Amino acid sequence: MKINILTLFPEMFSGFLGNSIIKRAIESLKIEINTVNIRDYTKDKHKTADDYPYGGGAGMVLKVEPILEALNSIDKGFVIYTSPQGKTLNQNLSKYLSEKEIITIIAGHYEGIDERVVESSVDMEISIGDYVLTGGELASMVIIDSVVRLVNGVLGNKDSYIDDSFYNGLLDYPQYTRPENHNEMKVPEVLLSGNHENIRKWRLRQSIERTYKKRPDLLLERKLSKEEEKILDDIKKGELK
Ligand code: ADE
Repeated sequence: MKINILTLFPEMFSGFLGNSIIKRAIESLKIEINTVNIRDYTKDKHKTADDYPYGGGAGMVLKVEPILEALNSIDKGFVIYTSPQGKTLNQNLSKYLSEKEIITIIAGHYEGIDERVVESSVDMEISIGDYVLTGGELASMVIIDSVVRLVNGVLGNKDSYIDDSFYNGLLDYPQYTRPENHNEMKVPEVLLSGNHENIRKWRLRQSIERTYKKRPDLLLERKLSKEEEKILDDIKKGELK
């Protein structure tokens, strides 16, 4: 997968791209990331990328020409614009994006970008939540991080995302590592038992219980298997006691 990022602040991405799983994914050629500085596509001697909004008002607006020039200079694929007005990112959307061959993310800034960019060239506006950031760079990193880990081969073992919260519509079960006993806080017995079926059942129950208590809205969207229904009934009965 190739990801282009159009930004006025490419240096903001260096820490993000130079560490951990993203760095490894780039080195092993599972993904290619190309940051494009919008300012390189300005034509005037002051390299002006933004201007005052027509009609007045606070803030500056990113100009149409440099962004369209930058887009035209690359093989752009599916074009995303980061904006609080977009579709809210969730795991399904990340999965959808992870199957694209090429995506290009335009990181907005200031008060936004000239609407003609959105009208002519953007396939999808994406928000990472109902709050306003100073720019689209952090939002782009959040999108890229959640997408890249779903690209085939990026995580060593497919299981590492199959058990994630949201992947199967449920929150994740709790995890423990050594030591077995920390100041009398003990790891649940079943996890030490070596009985894989009991561990599977315990984890499933934990996932369902957490989802029911913390994010009941997720249960409305997900069809439960017979086994899961039974566990949920059991949890509800337990509450009545
Ligand atoms: N730019 C500013 N705020 C944003 C948000 N919440 N999501 C995506 N891009 C943004």
